[in-house]
Amino acid sequence: MTTTSRPHGAPDDASPGSLRERARRAIEEQPSPTVTVLSSLLAAQDELGYLPYEAVDEVSLRTGSSVNEVWAVASFYPNFRFTPPARHSVEICWGPTCHVLGAQPILQGLVSHLGLDGEGDTEDGSISFKYNTCLGVCPHAPAMSFDHELAGRMSLDEAVSRVERIRAADVEQSA
Ligand code: FES
Repeated sequence: MTTTSRPHGAPDDASPGSLRERARRAIEEQPSPTVTVLSSLLAAQDELGYLPYEAVDEVSLRTGSSVNEVWAVASFYPNFRFTPPARHSVEICWGPTCHVLGAQPILQGLVSHLGLDGEGDTEDGSISFKYNTCLGVCPHAPAMSFDHELAGRMSLDEAVSRVERIRAADVEQSA
């Protein structure tokens, strides 16, 4: 884990809508009895989609922990990311029910279709692909989510087709 040498609490970019200001608001708006380094990191990532230096620094300031302590917590959990996500999120459940009902061939096929080795972001920056241990819709296994919209009884063909629809809509939008 690399940390930057920027000064702690630097007023670098605290303007409304900046990463620092959004992280600060997300951290402050947590219900007070549950505020910890971990809950603050989660709140910041929910707001920003990842944890830039500004978010880690704000967690440090708001919880009274050192920046190094906050980095230690953040880097321990694989669900935190430190670079901006791709434009769309696609998740596949590989929990027990989905596994039994055929998630693995879909997962492998999609990884290969996206040109990845596993979880990660596609080279074109369009898709962040993630595994999930249970999307909460086991009766509809195998399950996936596309930009947080759940989809059940998936097949590889359907998964590929949804991913391609997302990409096509992206291209259309930027044209
Ligand atoms: S195990 Fe896949 S949705 Fe629960």
